[in-house]
Amino acid sequence: MIKRVAGTRDILPDQVNLWQRIEEISRKIFSVYNFSEIRPPLVEEEILFNRSLGESAEIIQKQMFLIKNGSDTYALRPEGTASIVRAYLENNLDKTNAFVKLYYLGPMFRLERPQKGRFRQFHHIGCEVIGSSDPLVDVEVISLADTLLKGYGIGGYKIVVNNLGCAKDKSGLSANLRKLLKDKLGELCEDCKARYARNVLRILDCKNKGCVEVVGKLNLSDGHMCAGCLGHFTQVKQGLAALKIDFEISPTLVRGLDYYTSTVFEIKHPGLDSQQDALGAGGRYDNLVKELGGPDTGAMGFAFGLERLLLVRGEEKENPSRKPVYLISLGEAARAEGIKLLSGLRGHNISSDTDYEGKSLKGAMRKANDLGADYVLIIGDDEIRENAVTLKDMQQGTQEKIPIGEVIPRLKTKLSC
Ligand code: HAM
Repeated sequence: MIKRVAGTRDILPDQVNLWQRIEEISRKIFSVYNFSEIRPPLVEEEILFNRSLGESAEIIQKQMFLIKNGSDTYALRPEGTASIVRAYLENNLDKTNAFVKLYYLGPMFRLERPQKGRFRQFHHIGCEVIGSSDPLVDVEVISLADTLLKGYGIGGYKIVVNNLGCAKDKSGLSANLRKLLKDKLGELCEDCKARYARNVLRILDCKNKGCVEVVGKLNLSDGHMCAGCLGHFTQVKQGLAALKIDFEISPTLVRGLDYYTSTVFEIKHPGLDSQQDALGAGGRYDNLVKELGGPDTGAMGFAFGLERLLLVRGEEKENPSRKPVYLISLGEAARAEGIKLLSGLRGHNISSDTDYEGKSLKGAMRKANDLGADYVLIIGDDEIRENAVTLKDMQQGTQEKIPIGEVIPRLKTKLSC
């Protein structure tokens, strides 16, 4: 038997209700914050991600799903931010709207080693605010993430925030770190030894025990930070405090993508594996729009991993709200009448279904029960002769024979539709 690709999932019908519920809550809250949905393609030019996330990012180094087509190389999107900035520029939103608040839901692809909470195809619920460097945008975006989590019924998480500063400040921090770590290289893991030259900031959030110990002893200050970036972060902290949003500051939170500057944040949950403990993450990327050929304008966003939200919320099944009326037709004449009645019910938006498996009356009643049907319609030889239908009320346990022409009006009243 052909199996699904490792690290991917089938979301089966009895799980889909829960996914739809999370999506519905998200859409509602995004709309309350006046965000509009955007749906970029799942496949992009590889170079878009190389340029945006940075050649040294782990995603670019080893996690891209690439598709060769002649001399072109496409990539299945590993994240949404780069695509959305591309779409913003390609569709001239920078000229027509300039300031946009966009959200997206959908699959992302990373060729990772699958484990609990880490998939090769996973889903983001994310947003991007493009066209402003106002620190209150950072406050709005972090507070939106907090509101979404509350809306999903998730608690017990921790919002961790840091300030990376502008590109110049980031280079200052990198230089500082190289100095501090120079004589400690021997104590770092092999990955971090390579990071020292390529991407020294990533050593700060390495999960390896030895590296955590080395980093814990470093004297990290914000002495390399310019006045503008310090001021921006002060306003972010004040705004979050004004909204009574609990947060922690962690100087070791650096994020793995090159595009980040200034405010970055991660939302951690103890219900997740300690190696993959982020429900979601985001931050400012004030240089990306310009780097991709657009104006010099600020931007900020975040994304949740939907699978991780479900892991901590519990994937208990949601009962489908749909309770179809179930039609049982016994015999050929009844089946012919039945398909017309079914079509009429559906034409009046009454959710309805019938048996196509040749079940006995008893078997079909059991099926109606399994589907949670409140009403069952039965057509047999007697009913055909009398031009009637038996209407069974499953809750009350009562039944009556009514003229076929009365079925739809009667059900519409009962179901108030
Ligand atoms: P990210 O931290 O790479 O950020 O991903 C965001 C979230 O997606 C993570 O916190 C995690 O919950 C989930 N996630 C990531 N990889 C996997 C995986 N392999 N399996 C399951 N879940 C995963 C970004 O992608 C940025 N684009 C976020 C952002 C938006 N920054 C600014 N705007």
